[in-house]
Amino acid sequence: MKNRLASMLKEIRGQGNYRSIRYVRPLCAATIIHGGREYLNLCSNSYLSLHLHPAVMEAAMSAVGNYGTGTCSSRSVSGSIDLYEKLEAAVARYKGYKKGLIFPTGYMANIGIVSTIPDKGDVIFSDELNHSSLIDAMRLSYAKKVIYRHRDAGDLERKLKKHGARGKSFVITESIFSMDGDMAPLAEIMELRDRYGFYAIVDDAHGTGIFGKGGSGVEEYWRLKGAADIHMATFGKAMGSFGAFVLSDPVVIEYLVNRARTFMYTTALPPAALAASQEALDIVSGDLSFKEELWRNIDYMRSGLLGAGFDLKESTGPIVPIVVGKDADAVKMQKILMNEGFFLQAIRPPTVPTGTSRLRLTVVRGFSREQMDRAIEAITAAGRKMKLV
Ligand SMILES: Cc1ncc(COP(=O)(O)O)c(C=O)c1O
Repeated sequence: MKNRLASMLKEIRGQGNYRSIRYVRPLCAATIIHGGREYLNLCSNSYLSLHLHPAVMEAAMSAVGNYGTGTCSSRSVSGSIDLYEKLEAAVARYKGYKKGLIFPTGYMANIGIVSTIPDKGDVIFSDELNHSSLIDAMRLSYAKKVIYRHRDAGDLERKLKKHGARGKSFVITESIFSMDGDMAPLAEIMELRDRYGFYAIVDDAHGTGIFGKGGSGVEEYWRLKGAADIHMATFGKAMGSFGAFVLSDPVVIEYLVNRARTFMYTTALPPAALAASQEALDIVSGDLSFKEELWRNIDYMRSGLLGAGFDLKESTGPIVPIVVGKDADAVKMQKILMNEGFFLQAIRPPTVPTGTSRLRLTVVRGFSREQMDRAIEAITAAGRKMKLV
């Protein structure tokens, strides 16, 4: 076995696709220490910089004082501490749904939904660039799978006509695609739902806290708050904490409690994570200045990079893809920027399609103008070396 794995690792290295773990320590919302050196962190998903917010940290610490460090049991046994009840109700209200259910992670929530609800005889229609958790979830489902072109409602409709059946079809999409930062055509998808009678499953991991007038996510942006049949989002990104939730009709939630194996057979979240999520949610639902500050930074970074000549594709919001092409070239550009004190990763297959390896930059609320100016200048210089601009 060891020889086989070693030769596969050699092949991965040869392709420029090797991954290694880089250990870091946060200094503040914008900077980290890695290998004894300070870097500007250009790849955090803590878009609202809440993971180091004093009130969020205080909530987590006080939960440890009141509840201890772990729940030490699954949700169905004695792990459902009362913090869950309040948070599940609050998050359902925030996003306009009847009922919520918290899972340990977004990965597990997606596996729980998709492997449990669509069944044999059903058809799942999935955007070709959906997140790996959704792809893995489909692998565990007995339903037939049909992949439609990225954000292409026309292709989805053609495939619905060919393979769909009213009441037996499920359409799954991310709201903001995690590696491309572009937005699903939710209004068109919901209009197709009315005509073709499918169930819409929306993953709003990267829209929550950021999009829509009240910041509740991409459905609110499209004036479709609460419209999906099943909605999933996470606490591990803009909310600066950990965990995820599913929102839907009470009967769907009841079914997941009884059948979703990634809900049933795992230890419940630690109290600190739940309390931090609750505090973050209370903050963002009562104060829009967090999202407004983030959007000012997004606009500043995007206009700087567009001005320098980068093609940011159809992206919008905090995820900014800089597509380089070959794996080795993406790694080269990443190394140039690391040398200049900017921390980020080259994103390569299988995370993104072959030939589209990229740097995935993220903009966070905690960046200062001076930090963004430095980043824009360095990314532009590296982009010139790579002949991207
Ligand atoms: C679109 C999307 N869905 C689901 C997940 C999984 O969420 P979690 O990190 O909570 O497992 C992620 C990222 O990690 C994601 O980007």
